[in-house]
Amino acid sequence: MKILGISGSPRDEKRSGVYHLVETVLKHTGCEYELVSLRGKQISGCTACLGCAKDNICRVNDDLTPLRPKIVEADAYVIGAPNYYSTMNAATHAFLERWFQFRHQEGSALWGKLAVSVGVGGTDGKAVPWDMEKFFLYNFIESVAKVAGQGAASCFSCGYGETCKVGIPTMLFGPDPKITDEMIPDVSRQPAVMKAAADAGRLLGERLRKGHDRKAVTQAMQAHLMAMFQETV
Ligand SMILES: Cc1cc2nc3c(=O)[nH]c(=O)nc-3n(C[C@H](O)[C@H](O)[C@H](O)COP(=O)(O)O)c2cc1C
Repeated sequence: MKILGISGSPRDEKRSGVYHLVETVLKHTGCEYELVSLRGKQISGCTACLGCAKDNICRVNDDLTPLRPKIVEADAYVIGAPNYYSTMNAATHAFLERWFQFRHQEGSALWGKLAVSVGVGGTDGKAVPWDMEKFFLYNFIESVAKVAGQGAASCFSCGYGETCKVGIPTMLFGPDPKITDEMIPDVSRQPAVMKAAADAGRLLGERLRKGHDRKAVTQAMQAHLMAMFQETV
């Protein structure tokens, strides 16, 4: 069983709350995994060229191309993104848009697989897993758990955090905040979030080891998607 982890944060792996949480989930699965950071990668969104319609292979040649075999070979995914403007950041959105290549005809490479979604925001990461689950659903992937935490907004380190009237330190702590290390949110100091990440990893590992019926998962996800469409037309 192999799990592909993706951290969609553009920040250095040591500073990124997303990277840390995705890694925590992966470590608790007890399965083999690979964690790939999208930091520094150039991945465009889907160009709607439909070059993938016939054979499920995307014709856009960029840093997603070498990741395609990893996506296909993985049995499950742990994908995390930072919350930018109350949704996932553009890099992760672009990465997931390109999964459109797997959707056509009988291109069942991803159908019936399992996933965990992770979000981190300066105030809250919850909006991200909510968005991400829709991408999973469109590829008939079951989301087994969502994990969200609070990370360090850039305003704590931009140099103007104590005086900026619209920065996150002012929003969280009131006017003229004196920034200390302890007040900078860090997912590793949030026991409930770290527990949720560990529990999500264990659950994913158990589901994979038990051996899940990909056909049954696919059918359940197809029914779920159809119901969603019927609600929105
Ligand atoms: C362009 C931009 C927009 C952001 N918008 C939000 C937001 O709407 N809500 C929020 O909670 N945090 C927001 N943040 C803060 C990030 O989510 C926060 O810094 C988080 O820790 C990033 O995850 P990382 O540490 O893995 O990079 C924003 C940050 C940037 C750079």
